[in-house]
Amino acid sequence: RLTVLSTSGWCFAPLVFLPIPFSESQVVGPHQPVVALVDDDVILPCHVEPAEDVTAEILEWTRSDLNPRFVHVWRSGQDLVNTRNPSYRGRASLFINELKRGNISLKLSKVKLSDEGTYECSIPLMEKKSFVKLVVGKSLLISLSGTGENRGGVVLQCESAGRYPEPELLWLDGDGNLLSAGPTETLRGPDDLYTVSSRVTVEKRHSNNINCRVQLKQISKSRETHKHVPGKYRL
Ligand SMILES: *[C@@H]1O[C@H](CO)[C@@H](O)[C@H](O)[C@H]1NC(C)=O
Repeated sequence: RLTVLSTSGWCFAPLVFLPIPFSESQVVGPHQPVVALVDDDVILPCHVEPAEDVTAEILEWTRSDLNPRFVHVWRSGQDLVNTRNPSYRGRASLFINELKRGNISLKLSKVKLSDEGTYECSIPLMEKKSFVKLVVGKSLLISLSGTGENRGGVVLQCESAGRYPEPELLWLDGDGNLLSAGPTETLRGPDDLYTVSSRVTVEKRHSNNINCRVQLKQISKSRETHKHVPGKYRL
């Protein structure tokens, strides 16, 4: 509301803050992007606040950049399968027992790179919605190669073109002990892509299996690759 008071040539418009009615419920998503790796199952969180039973509502998960845009639709107490975008067929589901608590989180199985994007979680008839951003980390491709010999040791290089969040690289011997390596080089390219690489010199008396493990800092996910270092290592 704007109230304009006029006093001898001066005009000012005091701002009036009206209280928002308390009974209004809201659809709430996460504050941060959800991160998953390819092939993982992931939950896209979304709930109604304050909690109320939404089982009888129409619930929609959509992505406006897709055609059809429907990832999942719940109507008349059941999943509406026909309208769904084919790329989510059999991979998206609600937690049906959670609906009575206002929890409309979506479970997405076997995440694909193409799942990355902004999802809208909404109750159309209540005109409530919220957005959830999903970031899909590329499956961590690790390349491990011998680059030479150094004072009787073998130099191995491990590189991972991870994506997001920032990957961390560790060297382990065959028994799972951490090996000390040189500093990890991290390159952050355009589009926030990360590439990390590290070298380690392995003495030949070490057990022969060397593992390079790459993990994503923000989620406890890791991939590992090994290299068998032959007794007589040659390039
Ligand atoms: C909604 O349900 C999922 C699956 O059970 C759970 O992980 C999540 O924490 C729940 N969210 C809320 C707000 O209760």
